[in-house]
Amino acid sequence: MLKVGVLASGRGSNLQAILDECAAGRIPAKVVVVISDKEGAPALERGRKASAEALFISPKGLKREEYDAKLVAEMRKHGVGLVVLAGYMRLISPLFVKAFRNKIINIHPALLPSFPGTHGQRDALEWGAKISGCTVHFVDEECDHGPIILQKAVPVMDDDTVETLSARILEQEHKALPEAIRLFAEGKLRVEGRRAFRK
Ligand code: GRF
Repeated sequence: MLKVGVLASGRGSNLQAILDECAAGRIPAKVVVVISDKEGAPALERGRKASAEALFISPKGLKREEYDAKLVAEMRKHGVGLVVLAGYMRLISPLFVKAFRNKIINIHPALLPSFPGTHGQRDALEWGAKISGCTVHFVDEECDHGPIILQKAVPVMDDDTVETLSARILEQEHKALPEAIRLFAEGKLRVEGRRAFRK
């Protein structure tokens, strides 16, 4: 069974969605390790409860590549075949990308390539977009940039706030991320250049 390593910086609701789908037997994968760059991130507790190893690794005083080398070592130690960034707020280095080429996926709360960066929901709202959503993509050396696996769209309402729009998008994130992991775990994804296809 595919072993999954998750990187998460915060509340971990996307991690929870993955854990629930794995527990229900709908994804042929198991989350074996959850790593956070933030001490006390609720994501760690969620991982622990699902009997994954949950580790806080402090980035303090480390260069980006030094930190990522530690992450890669942990992932390897646990035999991880897929790394999932689920609300992971640090940029990952080329060293990490190289170690897990086309084996790292990220969830972004906007329809890429629109509104990359840390405030996807706010930026879509302020831009006046009428449709936004979420994107699951493979991670490459550039931020929010790699081949798109799948996207889910939601409407932007006239009276939306960042909070209401974020909640509507989050609901779709919780479907999109497990779905992408399932496709990967079942060996149903193929990457050609910038494009990812379902086999
Ligand atoms: C999500 O909106 C995700 O798309 C973004 O950060 C948020 C993380 O939420 N990158 P959670 O920690 O999974 O609840």
